[in-house]
Parts: sequence; structure tokens; C-alpha cells
Amino acid sequence: MNIQENISLQPFNTFGIDKKAKFFVKAKSEEDVKQALDFAKKSNLPIFILGGGSNILLTKDLDALVIKMEITGIKIIGENEDEVFVEVGAGENWHTFVLHCIENDWAGAENLSLIPGTVGASPMQNIGAYGVEIKEIFQSLQAINRDTLEMKVFNAGDCGFGYRDSVFKNDLKNQFVITKVIFSLKKKPVFHMEYGSIKQTLEEMGVKTPSIAFISKAVIQIRQSKLPDPKVIGNAGSFFKNPTVPFDFFETLKKAYPEIPSFPNEQGVKIPAAWLIEKAGWKGKTFDKIGVHKNQPLVLVNYGGGDGHDIKLLSEKIQQSVLQQFGILLHPEVNFL
Ligand code: FAD
Ligand code: EPU
Repeated sequence: MNIQENISLQPFNTFGIDKKAKFFVKAKSEEDVKQALDFAKKSNLPIFILGGGSNILLTKDLDALVIKMEITGIKIIGENEDEVFVEVGAGENWHTFVLHCIENDWAGAENLSLIPGTVGASPMQNIGAYGVEIKEIFQSLQAINRDTLEMKVFNAGDCGFGYRDSVFKNDLKNQFVITKVIFSLKKKPVFHMEYGSIKQTLEEMGVKTPSIAFISKAVIQIRQSKLPDPKVIGNAGSFFKNPTVPFDFFETLKKAYPEIPSFPNEQGVKIPAAWLIEKAGWKGKTFDKIGVHKNQPLVLVNYGGGDGHDIKLLSEKIQQSVLQQFGILLHPEVNFL
């Protein structure tokens, strides 16, 4: 195990923020994770578990041990007539895993194509896109207790999955390091094409008979047309979650804003945060090196050399103005450090 000191985290977060880690180590096995946790305990150091850094905002240097998850491996551990059970190392790139599923004709992950980050982080916020969330293909995960170093298995029911949410962001926050995730993928595909412009994109692509490969391609095309590529402009995807408001509150809002887009669900009515932020006048606004993306106002961006603390302050101003105008408090999706 090679513990490095004073390492810049700029290459390791998609916002491209230049903050340092006091100590930094790459964990390529469960044993590496345990040794790193042990080192942190003995040195009385806080710990930060890093995947691909695509859902974090660094606002300061980390006086901590950063453990970058690099446990790899994708293997079948069982199957039945309908499903294949696949165990994946936490450090595998999410999109590489999705492509592996498609190549092997394992269905279920295709709508989640091109989401940045690692497999180990995917249960943290129950990643979702284009009508599918990982909870639909999730079987179980293995995680190391950060305090006792014991391994624990979590089945789907233990994870408290919700919209961009899980038990690992709530009751069990900062308590476990996820080392492996087991997915159950379908041998016969069930296509999810209702969301957004998937059907239309497939038509434009000239696709007559859908397949998981075509759906993946359509999702990739839509995503590339909507979201900035972090390799070009620093960002962490949607900065806030889309809020769901009570039905009666929505009716009052609709009187004031008849054009408001809305997606009813069991809890109430989901309103796109992008619309609220645009209406509040933030779309495309630039403040020196940072700003609000010109096509997708839910994405805050670092044009280069921006500071994480300034992005946090900008996000708070956006929150305040949306609250003032609409009476809706936006909750960040991104994890602040
Ligand atoms: P990191 O940013 O490294 O970490 C995120 C959190 O998880 C941190 O709290 C970290 O400590 C914790 N963590 C990471 N790995 C582990 C582990 N092994 N064990 C314990 N804790 C861990 N998200 C969506 O849901 N849907 C989208 O469509 C989507 N689109 C995006 C588009 C862009 C352009 C970008 C930049 C981001 C997007 N995201 C999306 C957000 C992001 O891709 C996901 O949240 C992803 O799962 C983060 O993975 P990561 O490995 O980069 O996690
Ligand atoms: N909109 C505007 N103005 C804009 C752009 C969008 O008003 O400039 C409104 C439109 O009404 C549009 C709606 O926002 O119909 C939704 O936009 P979009 O389809 O781009 O989706 P989103 O709500 O912005 C969510 C997720 C994304 C996910 C996509 C596809 C959240 C917080 N974000 O974005 O996830 O990829 O849907 O499923 O739920 C992420 O979590 O980081 C992320 C990118």
C-alpha cells in the first residue's frame, strides 16, 4: 500500500477543482481498504472514500486520508432461466460495466448508459436516468464497516433506496466502504422507452426493432446533446435534485405559472429544478470562472480555475432565489466536502 502525501485532487473530481488531500491511497483490493482504514484509525485521521469524483464539490483541502476505490473485476456468480447474477468490483467504471452488459446481452442497465463514476458509488444515491434506477437491477452489495473492519452484506431491502437516495447517505452515512455490488440482469429484455425523447431518438436513428444496444446508443446521444462533458467543462451533473411538491401547492403554483412543467407521482408533483432555475433568471449566467450552464441550468460549471467554495456560494444564491420566487427549497444532489 502506497500512501502518498499532499496530493492534488484536481484529476480526481469532474468539477476539476484543485484542492489537496493530506494523505491519498489507491485501494485495489479489500485488504488494501482494510489496511488504509487501519492506518487512518491509528493516525486519528478522518477518511474520505473516493470513486470517480463525479458527484462531489471540493470546497477545501482535505485534512484526511482519501481512499480511491480501484477494486476491479466483473464476474458471473450465478444464473437461472431468467437472470444472470453479476458481481462487480467497486472501482469498475460504471459505463464500462453497462457496455459489458450490452455485449453479453444482459438487459437492465442500458438506460443508465454514460453515467460517470464507479460501480461502488452507484448504490450511494441509487443512480437513475431515462426511467430506470439501479434499484431495479440491484441484488446485493458487500461493504466493510469503517470502524470494525467487518464485512457486511446488504440486500436491496436493507439499502433504503429512494430518488437519488439510500441508507448510505442517511442512517449509515460514513460508516461503510462498498467493495462489491451484485446485479441481477435479465436474459430477456424489458425495454423502457417511455421517458423523454428515447422513442423519438430511436426513430431518428432509423431503428425499427429496439434492442438494448440501440437503447443505449439513443440514451448516449440524448445525454451528449444535453449535458456538458466534464472533460471539456468541469461539472458534476445535476447540482440539485428535482423537487416533489404536494398536489394542492402545485395547483396554486400552476395558477401563477400556467406553463409550469410537471410530472405527478405518488408523493405529489415533481417539478424540474432546471425550469425553476431558468425562470429565476440563472440560465447561462457566468461569474468569472464559474457559472450556470447555458443549455442545462441544473448543471453548475467550472470553466477552469474556479473555486469550489465559490460554486457553493453560487448554489446557495440559486437556492435562495428559487425559494423566494416559488416557495420551493432545492436540495443539492452533489456531496459537499
Ligand atoms: P464520487 O463522486 O467519487 O462519490 C460520491 C459519494 O459516494 C461520496 O460521498 C463518496 O464518499 C461516496 N462513495 C463513492 N464510492 C464509494 C464506495 N465504494 N463506498 C462508499 N462510499 C462511496 N447521477 C445520476 O444518478 N444520474 C445521472 O444521469 C447522472 N448524470 C451525470 C452526468 C454528469 C456529466 C456528471 C458529471 C455526473 C452525473 N451523475 C448522475 C452523478 C454521478 O455520476 C453519480 O452520482 C455517480 O454514481 C458518482 O460516482 P463516483 O464514483 O464519481 O462517486
Ligand atoms: N428544462 C428547462 N430548461 C432547460 C432544461 C430543462 O425548463 O434549460 C426542464 C424541461 O421542462 C425539461 C425538464 O427540465 O423537460 C427535464 O430536463 P431533463 O430531461 O434534461 O432532465 P433533468 O430533470 O434536468 C434528470 C436527472 C438527470 C438524468 C435526466 C434523465 C435529476 C436531478 N436529474 O435531469 O440526472 O440524467 O433526468 O433521466 O433527477 C444527475 O443526477 O446528475 C443527472 C444528470
